[in-house]
Amino acid sequence: MSSWVRVAAVADCDVGTLKGVMVEGTPVVLANIDGDIFALQDECSHEEYPLSDGELDGEDLVCIYHGARFECATGRNKSLPAIRPVKSFAVQIQDDEIYIDLS
Ligand code: FES
Repeated sequence: MSSWVRVAAVADCDVGTLKGVMVEGTPVVLANIDGDIFALQDECSHEEYPLSDGELDGEDLVCIYHGARFECATGRNKSLPAIRPVKSFAVQIQDDEIYIDLS
């Protein structure tokens, strides 16, 4: 069952940036890639540091701590030292507000 929660305004997440938000106790990082918004759990699967401290490189989020790379659209890990993906959340935009499905 879906559980859509408003997490931010689109205006709060500029193109090419990351934004960390806390959603009902879950840390979430929003990534704006060319106007498309993606949402991942804001916790690296390597050592649990916030991915929102990292940076975008194309369609990937690169963890600033040890360089692990994750695909923003899916959370798939693409490089060491991460050997596991991070959770990704479905995103909807309604009336310039960002909603994610926390279920
Ligand atoms: S905590 Fe992200 S690569 Fe180590």
